[in-house]
Amino acid sequence: MNILETLQQRFATVLEDFTDNVGPFVEMIRPSQDAKFGDYQANCAMPLGKQNGTAPREVALKIVDKLNVADLCEPSEVAGPGFINLTLRTPWLEDLINRIAHDERLGVEAVAKPKTIVVDFSSPNVAKPMHVGHLRSTVIGDSLARVFRFAGHQVITDNHIGDWGTQFGMIIYGFKHFVELKAYEQDPVGELARLYRLVNQLCDYHDAKSKLPELKEQIERAETRLAEMDPDSPDKQQKKAYKKQSSEIAGLRAELKTLKAKIAAVDDDPELKELADKHPQIAVDSRKQTAKLHAGDQENVRLWDEFLPLCVEALQKIYDRLDIAFDHTLGESFYNDQLADVVKDLEKKGLAVESDGAKCVFLEGHAAPFIVQKADGAYTYATTDLATIKYRVEEFGADQMCYVVDARQSEHFSMLFKTARAWGYNDVELQHVQFGTVMGKDGRPYKTRSGDTVGLESLLDEAIAKASEIVAANDDAKKDADGNPRPELSPEYRAEIAEAVGLGGVKYADLMHNRESDYVFDYDKMLATTGNTATYLQYAHARIYGIFRKGNILPAKLRSEVPRIEIKDPTERALALRIARYSEFLSDVVADCRPNLLTQYLFDLSNDLTAFYAACHVLNAEDEQTKRSRLMLCDVCARVLSHGMSLLGIKAPQQM
Ligand code: ARG
Repeated sequence: MNILETLQQRFATVLEDFTDNVGPFVEMIRPSQDAKFGDYQANCAMPLGKQNGTAPREVALKIVDKLNVADLCEPSEVAGPGFINLTLRTPWLEDLINRIAHDERLGVEAVAKPKTIVVDFSSPNVAKPMHVGHLRSTVIGDSLARVFRFAGHQVITDNHIGDWGTQFGMIIYGFKHFVELKAYEQDPVGELARLYRLVNQLCDYHDAKSKLPELKEQIERAETRLAEMDPDSPDKQQKKAYKKQSSEIAGLRAELKTLKAKIAAVDDDPELKELADKHPQIAVDSRKQTAKLHAGDQENVRLWDEFLPLCVEALQKIYDRLDIAFDHTLGESFYNDQLADVVKDLEKKGLAVESDGAKCVFLEGHAAPFIVQKADGAYTYATTDLATIKYRVEEFGADQMCYVVDARQSEHFSMLFKTARAWGYNDVELQHVQFGTVMGKDGRPYKTRSGDTVGLESLLDEAIAKASEIVAANDDAKKDADGNPRPELSPEYRAEIAEAVGLGGVKYADLMHNRESDYVFDYDKMLATTGNTATYLQYAHARIYGIFRKGNILPAKLRSEVPRIEIKDPTERALALRIARYSEFLSDVVADCRPNLLTQYLFDLSNDLTAFYAACHVLNAEDEQTKRSRLMLCDVCARVLSHGMSLLGIKAPQQM
């Protein structure tokens, strides 16, 4: 059961006497921040009093008088100007925790009205290896899909891969000119990745060379302007302008440095230089290869058919490692033959109009149009996404679509959703679940030392390598009763745990931050055994199993004997209440698409557990009944921990 929701419903009936619009006032019933104000607190009397011209305290007293919560709460208290403090009756909480302890769903009811929700996540552009930039969508999307599913919704996960874009023209061009067949036979994906990087580098080289003179001139002009300015001018505006001009120059200089580095990387390598000289039009020619592919050119379609499964297979390897599965992988190419109809339909409805040869949808509040067909006839990312919405509504019967995509695409999604609405897709809920960037410790997007993007594969390898050191050190430090070293884990089991800790650490660090913020990628922080980390939760979970092992307790057997959990100590009460609130947090995760609410919940739960151990003996409890009660409380806590972690896609080993 959802305690908060129950209380809110009880309040709603009463609040109807005070206002026509109970919604916002019901929202003011929240868990208390401080236990001295009870377990929950209602702050609605203050605004209601203001609205009705009555003293808030009086309103609060009237509400309390009518409120029917005697079954679950102690008599409600009115504090200060009109806060209503609610404290759950401990015997009621005791009944609840005992029910939860034997409930497979841990007290979480499935939603009354299940929706069909499509979660669009990961969705990398294939043909290049996955990198750190793909981590967030993949991890957040997977977790949301798991939570929605557990909540009772019908969830369809769809990996909308970019398998039809310019990067394929680049590898086709690369394959036609630079392939090393032996390497391709031995490691096709590795060779394709090399070709992509090579073509990309040569394109960048020519691009940088063509931009260099203009950029140099721009810097010169900016410097001349700066020289005419007075840095010590008493005029504030002028001083500000001087500063602005200087920082603009710094930005341009940084750009110049990047361009020069790109040029030098090729110029300093005779082999690369020769290739660059031989292929001056490589960017244009690669785009031509993409256009030929889209036009159905036999050879290019054959190559694409050959390459795509290889690329998808490489992605699959990462998904397998991360324990992530998709119901569908309907990439951009899947919608190819539906795009012409989309544009026709938009034109028929008067939504798309011609502008400079392109077909565009003009939307209020957006300066740029939403282009659905370019002047050269090519369809766009926008067209594909519109076709995708149509498909998901018609074929999947989607009620809701969650796009777990970088915040930098917010303009695209805002325009996409507006266009879809105007097109007639009014009933489907469209949501851009956006997130920030993974940063390095230097405060810039996370890169390798040489400035390349960090491959996801190597990132996971490194996390696991570091985790295995931590796991080994922890095990090596274990001692027997006489203080002699006594490690417990076999090398195989250590490796298994290192995998759970390493991958769990990476996922958790991503999930624990408010998704809209950027976060700094830091192996040491994410693998720390204390603090808000997966490792800490995993240890908390394994520690419970440690108690079971030490006491020769089989949890399944314990459960079958149905020992009653009794709440005596305040730490037992706090732990039981936290467990009972699992349902509340999950429904918040669903409502806001925020896995960090679940990570925070699990962290708080682990802290409650630590406080409970500090105050209460378990195996050495004062009597057998108390011992069994506490073991049972530990058991249900372990189940919530491992269940919650599973919803984050994180494993919870029983021994560490
Ligand atoms: N492939 C895109 C990219 O890498 C993300 C696709 C997100 N999903 C969507 N339906 N647009 O930027």
